[in-house]
Parts: sequence; C-alpha cells; structure tokens
Amino acid sequence: MTPEEFRLLSQLICEHCGIRVREENSFLLERRLAAQLSSLGLANFTEYHRYLRFAPGRQAALEAAVEALATHETYFYREASQLESFREELLPKLARDCASSRRLRFWSAGCSTGEEAYTIAMLVLDSRLFKGWRVEVVGSDISPRVLALARKGIYRKAALRELPTELLDRYLALLGEHYAVREEVRRLVSFHRANLLDEEALGQGGRFEVIFCRNVMIYFDPLARRRLLRNLNQNLVEGGHLLLGSSESLINAAADFELVHLKRDLVYRKPVRSVT
Ligand SMILES: C[S@@+](CC[C@H](N)C(=O)[O-])C[C@H]1O[C@@H](n2cnc3c(N)ncnc32)[C@H](O)[C@@H]1O
Repeated sequence: MTPEEFRLLSQLICEHCGIRVREENSFLLERRLAAQLSSLGLANFTEYHRYLRFAPGRQAALEAAVEALATHETYFYREASQLESFREELLPKLARDCASSRRLRFWSAGCSTGEEAYTIAMLVLDSRLFKGWRVEVVGSDISPRVLALARKGIYRKAALRELPTELLDRYLALLGEHYAVREEVRRLVSFHRANLLDEEALGQGGRFEVIFCRNVMIYFDPLARRRLLRNLNQNLVEGGHLLLGSSESLINAAADFELVHLKRDLVYRKPVRSVT
C-alpha cells in the first residue's frame, strides 16, 4: 500500500464510520484489507479505493472493510463502578422523574455482541423500581455480524467474568457449556443496525433517557467524535444522561453537555432548556 493509497482509504473509512487508522498503523490497514481486495479480484489498493467510492456493490464492500477494521471487545458488567453509579443514583432519579409517564428508553450505542445492552436490562429489572413500566433497551451497532450474535443472547463463560454472581444466577441459564440470557431480560432488549454517524437514520430512532456509548469514540478521529456527540445529543431527552467509557472524555467537545459528578463516576447531561 502506497502512502497515497493509505491516505485515500483511511479517509474514506473515517468519513463513513468514524474509525481512524493512524499512519503508523498503515501495515494493519493493509493486512486487514488484503483479503477484501483479493476477494473482489482487484489488482491493487488504488482500484480497491475506486471500487469503494464508485462501484454499484460499494455498500457491501464498505461493510466488509468496516468489519475487518472494527474492534468488538466487550463483556457483561464492563466498568463496574460506572454501572454501580447508574444503579444507585441514576435509576432512582429516573424512577422519580418519569413517574408520570412510566416510560423509559435506554440506548447501548455501539453495543457489539450485546453484553452491554443485556447488562443495562438486568440492572433495570434488578432495581425493582419499574414494575409495570414500559422499559426499552435498544442496542445498535454498525456490524450485522455482531448484531446476529447479540440477538442470539448466548455467551461463553469468559464474557461473564465481571458479572456479579447473583445477577448471573438470576438472569442467565446454563446451556451446555454456554449461558443463555433469560427471556425476562431479552423481552426488554432489541437490536438494530445503525451507523452512529448517520444523523438522518438515527433521528428516526426516537429519544432516550440514558445513552451508553462506551469504548466507541476512542477509535474515532476528532471530527467524527464531534459528529457522533452531536448525534447522541439529538437523541437524548432534555436532562438525559450520556455515559462514556472510562478512557473517553468530552473535555474538548462538551458545549452541548454539562458534567455531572456522581459518587463514583463522571457522566454527562443534556441541559434542560430554560423556558423564559
Ligand atoms: C469496542 S466495542 C464496544 C462495545 C460496548 N459498548 C462496550 O463498551 O463494551 C465498539 C463497537 O462500536 C461499533 N462501531 C464502530 N463504529 C461504529 C459506527 N460508526 N456506528 C455504529 N457502531 C460502530 C463496532 O462495530 C464495535 O462493535
């Protein structure tokens, strides 16, 4: 891959889905996309770039490229202290604030194989604050492959390594060597394909009280992060909360959010517009 081919391809991928490949990792781009190039019968990366930009089959090829580059690492109960803040502080607040509508929507944006969405649903159920409410947990990802696994809801033990035993016993059932998410949890959760940079499509997904977008932005370039944050902001209700991964922060892009100090975590809130 020539430096010019690297520039064109990394720019195209980043524009499409936000994922940035640094120049020092150009060998990674080359290695991961080599199989795509040969399966399309193309001679070099210049032809491949042209194919991704202009060919009628470009959408499927772009999807395959993103699949080759995305990181899908995830597990149940990831970043425990944030989840405990969510359980102890945000859920009781939501139970008070939304008591009249008895309706709540949570979004796991960039949900990978579904562990985060199911974890949220388990915490909601386990709080026993929302009996008889209409609660929805939506998981979305750009990758159809991981979404198919999320919908199955069957996991290896390794994915459960951080999940407290009482939640595991209550909400998962042993299935041979694997664990299956119980129906009670699955009922709350649905999975959908969505590109987090596709403002128009996201606009149709409705608004959420809490959005988890964790360990997605770290792979994005600064411009894509801003686009992502704008989209997430639009999908939050006023006063709604955004929870990011522990290594992600909004320091440079916080204009649309205010910082909220919970006992064990910092989260972000969409300001409530004052009525004058
Ligand atoms: C590392 S996983 C994070 C999973 C989970 N949120 C967690 O923290 O454990 C990142 C996920 O973001 C998805 N992703 C990356 N870019 C995306 C985009 N533009 N739109 C939607 N999902 C995207 C990837 O496919 C991947 O499954």
